[in-house]
Amino acid sequence: MTKKTRLIKPHCMKQITHSFDYQIFDSALELQVNDRELLEKAKEAIAGSYAPYSHYHVGAAVKLANGQVFIGSNQENMSFPAGLCAERVGVFAAASNFPDVPVAAIAISAISDDFEVSEPVPPCGMCRQAIVEYELKFNNKIRIILGGQTGRIYVFHGMGSLLPLAFQEKGLVK
Ligand code: THU
Repeated sequence: MTKKTRLIKPHCMKQITHSFDYQIFDSALELQVNDRELLEKAKEAIAGSYAPYSHYHVGAAVKLANGQVFIGSNQENMSFPAGLCAERVGVFAAASNFPDVPVAAIAISAISDDFEVSEPVPPCGMCRQAIVEYELKFNNKIRIILGGQTGRIYVFHGMGSLLPLAFQEKGLVK
């Protein structure tokens, strides 16, 4: 994430523009091997999805700095807010098993029973905030690989690209 600051006359108010870099790949074949394998695991994780209401099945694969990979899939509930997204299932499983190991990367993919998911699947806002917590905890940026059922793949270096100005309050961290 880069930041540009301009002074706007006459009030000297600062206008700030944030921008970020990410990579676009036309197919998984173009990815570096680690990213391709993690995205493959995210696709496999879709098998565990429980999505009888949305029919939209999401898989996530979370790789820790020690090489361990944990998967997650979306788990829906009749009482809608009680369900959980694939990313949080995955990242919480990883953090529960290895609380002291930084998260290195997360890959996400999805399929729908009703249409083709032909764009990379972006994590929802709550998942972005949940994931950024682990970047802050370990002061370590997470690689993010977003794929769909078909189509292009996006690769980001750090959740800051997807969630600028994420909530954080150092006073809350003991
Ligand atoms: N979903 C995820 O698993 N991850 C996201 O980042 C966005 C949405 C799930 C929640 C719900 O089960 C279904 O996709 C449709 O919103």
